[in-house]
Amino acid sequence: MSHLDNTPSTPGKFKMEKSPYVHNRLRWHSSLAKLTCWSFMFLGLILIFFFRSPSSNPLPQDPSRRSLRTYNWGGPVWEKRVRSSARIRSRNGNGISVLVTGAAGFVGTHVSAALKRRGDGVLGLDNFNDYYDPSLKRARQALLERSGVFIVEGDINDSGLLRKLLEVVAFTHVMHLAAQAGVRYAMENPASYVHSNIAGFVSLLEICKSANPQPAIVWASSSSVYGLNTKVPFSERDTTDQPASLYAATKKAGEEIAHTYNHIYGLSLTGLRFFTVYGPWGRPDMAYFFFTRDILKGKSISIFEAANHGTVARDFTYIDDIVKGCLGALDTAEKSTGSGGKKKGPAQLRVYNLGNTSPVPVSDLVSILERLLKVNAKRSIMKLPRNGDVQFTHANISLAQRELGYKPETDLQTGLKKFVRWYLSYYSGGKKAAG
Ligand SMILES: NC(=O)c1ccc[n+]([C@@H]2O[C@H](COP(=O)([O-])OP(=O)(O)OC[C@H]3O[C@@H](n4cnc5c(N)ncnc54)[C@H](O)[C@@H]3O)[C@@H](O)[C@H]2O)c1
Ligand SMILES: *[C@@H]1O[C@H](CO)[C@@H](O)[C@H](O)[C@H]1NC(C)=O
Ligand SMILES: *[C@@H]1O[C@H](CO)[C@@H](O)[C@H](O)[C@H]1NC(C)=O
Repeated sequence: MSHLDNTPSTPGKFKMEKSPYVHNRLRWHSSLAKLTCWSFMFLGLILIFFFRSPSSNPLPQDPSRRSLRTYNWGGPVWEKRVRSSARIRSRNGNGISVLVTGAAGFVGTHVSAALKRRGDGVLGLDNFNDYYDPSLKRARQALLERSGVFIVEGDINDSGLLRKLLEVVAFTHVMHLAAQAGVRYAMENPASYVHSNIAGFVSLLEICKSANPQPAIVWASSSSVYGLNTKVPFSERDTTDQPASLYAATKKAGEEIAHTYNHIYGLSLTGLRFFTVYGPWGRPDMAYFFFTRDILKGKSISIFEAANHGTVARDFTYIDDIVKGCLGALDTAEKSTGSGGKKKGPAQLRVYNLGNTSPVPVSDLVSILERLLKVNAKRSIMKLPRNGDVQFTHANISLAQRELGYKPETDLQTGLKKFVRWYLSYYSGGKKAAG
């Protein structure tokens, strides 16, 4: 039976075979005993297989059926990495320590890198779901790793993990960018919007409100909250009660939930309504990105038009401008006023548009891409489906200008040039097929 000793498994499972009782009563050469032994071993292996559990976290039931996975976290080595990544390195006493959720995402990667560059402490959190190609998220993670940012792999709806992170590090700020983005995907997987944008946001706020000290929170809302029937330019005071998609509805709900946590617990909360963000390391599910891919492949691209040949236009905003707006919001955020779940006084509650203030028709976007790629696009004009997209977006940014010092500086031509340069180098050399 010597081969049993080599079986790599929990020693306890096999102790019974070695116990004096077993030795004294059974003759090991009897085939019945052998059969019993093998059955126990087999049963043991089955039990080990089914009940093997990760270190400490109960598995969050992930309704995004494309991303069932277990996360491993905890332990002294892990905690050391967490602390080291979140440590403030410079900035003469003005440094902040930020938990960035969605750090492997497009905006999260850029914001994390910018914070780290100026000496702030940054810890990332991301579940690396496969809503779009996870290898792009892994490449962004590798980029951040090189600049000293560690991304913890886990879900914002995992309260145990969040509590642990806020115990290990006294974060001054949370930059909350993790979300289920995209408008059309809601028809395919509505539960993922509820999971990340509602349940996940509430679980994050619950942990932050109980923390001591409570961090200040800056989080991504969206221009999509303006919904149907809003006059352009969109201003923060406009009513936002006609969301045109489930995505928009969950972002709008987030703004209401933020109000509640500010009111009851004294959490400092700032919502940023981003307008169509684009740039290097961008999101493959967005038009500028897949138009580039399809134009290069010679595939025809669908350009939407509204009723009566109405132009569809977007207030495209370059990533570096968005990053400056995010840092401006973090730097002007006041402290939360509560502690350990008790409000001590009124706290800051803000919402800002972060756009570019110059909407561009989608057909002009395509013309710019054709020039940059030196390839003619095969255009096919389609009716704008009534499943979530609005005809125009146009931000009024005077509030962010005044209070955050926000001033977008990159026009679409300049920004797309940088995107295309990145795209060609990222997908060149047979490194990956572009889709
Ligand atoms: N990019 C835009 O044009 C735009 C416009 C308006 C609003 N926003 C908002 O800005 C934020 C960032 O967007 P982005 O473009 O970087 O998107 P993204 O999808 O690239 O980034 C989001 C990241 O969050 C992670 N994530 C999602 N659910 C999670 C969960 N439950 N737990 C942990 N991690 C999770 C994803 O893996 C992803 O890496 C989002 O809240 C988005 O809704 C973006
Ligand atoms: C979020 O997590 C809680 C437990 O923390 C769980 O009860 C709930 O089902 C989860 N919600 C979603 C939508 O995943
Ligand atoms: C832009 O928003 C500001 C408030 O932030 C408002 O005073 C101004 O009237 C708005 N401008 C337009 C053109 O709507």
